[in-house]
Amino acid sequence: MTRALVTGAAGMLGHALAGSTPKGVEFVGVDVDELDITDLSSVEARFATRKPDVVINAAAYTNVDGCEEHEDDALAVNGTGAGHLAKACGSLGIPLLHVSTDYVFDGRIEAPGQYLEGDAVNPLSAYGRTKLAGELAVAKATDAHWIVRTQWLYGLDGKNFVDTMLWLADNKPHLEVVDDQVGSPTSTHQLAEMLWAIATEQPAYGIYNVRNEGEASWYDFAAEIFARAGRDVDLRRTDSRAYLRPAPRPARSVLSTEKLHAALGRGLPPWQEGLVDYLDRKAKLHHTTDQQA
Ligand SMILES: NC(=O)c1ccc[n+]([C@@H]2O[C@H](COP(=O)([O-])OP(=O)(O)OC[C@H]3O[C@@H](n4cnc5c(N)ncnc54)[C@H](OP(=O)(O)O)[C@@H]3O)[C@@H](O)[C@H]2O)c1
Repeated sequence: MTRALVTGAAGMLGHALAGSTPKGVEFVGVDVDELDITDLSSVEARFATRKPDVVINAAAYTNVDGCEEHEDDALAVNGTGAGHLAKACGSLGIPLLHVSTDYVFDGRIEAPGQYLEGDAVNPLSAYGRTKLAGELAVAKATDAHWIVRTQWLYGLDGKNFVDTMLWLADNKPHLEVVDDQVGSPTSTHQLAEMLWAIATEQPAYGIYNVRNEGEASWYDFAAEIFARAGRDVDLRRTDSRAYLRPAPRPARSVLSTEKLHAALGRGLPPWQEGLVDYLDRKAKLHHTTDQQA
């Protein structure tokens, strides 16, 4: 039995990892109340008492706009905290799978280009800077790491774009969604299965991009959500200049998955399939909840 310690287990990706734990793996989930990754002595004590075989770090300070005003707090978790986990893993001789983001890139790549793992990074936001600091801290502390960059996550048990769009559709006469940011909407459930594959099949250490196949703007994504959910919505295009937010977002952050395919012989399904799977899971959950009520 492989014992996997998963940090940030109460988060959106943490829940998906819990729900997709493969056979032969013991899932040990902890969140900030049980293990604050900013505290190195707690991390070391926890690792010593119940030694894991592998660690997956899904803990992070993920409020992208909030990071602009609280960069030090975000850095403590996303940068220093990630480094603490890597240091503790290095001392025990166990691998760390650390989750990172497309926001390490500036998004200025020209279409139809996609970011390779080795491309130059240049984060635009405080969140991106702190996540990049985490990648560097992990790589410095231990060679035995997989850094998985992913993007545009949605899943059960988390505030996400799909649910926000469905709520807005019920509560607004029309919707405007930006059409000038392009990425790959990614299901946490499908991502989690691939993270387990990496943790158990153990490809060569290094950085891997993992996301659902295909690309979309937020407008395209919203249109697909309404089509698949059978909603008739007055949906209009807008752009980032009309929808200013504290943290700048990369314009085009599509991540290449060539390396993942070469290493594991497979990738994730197209993003539209990830969305359908998510809507099915949501419907089943509501059905069960309704029956219990
Ligand atoms: N969401 C996206 O679109 C997206 C895109 C690309 C990459 N990612 C990356 O994917 C990973 C998972 O993201 P997510 O969307 O699942 O985030 P999430 O739902 O915010 O989960 C992160 C979890 O980490 C916990 N946490 C915060 N500070 C901690 C600390 N000091 N020690 C231990 N745990 C702490 C959070 O607790 P609190 O809620 O109590 O703070 C939360 O439960 C992160 O590395 C994120 O950067 C996310």
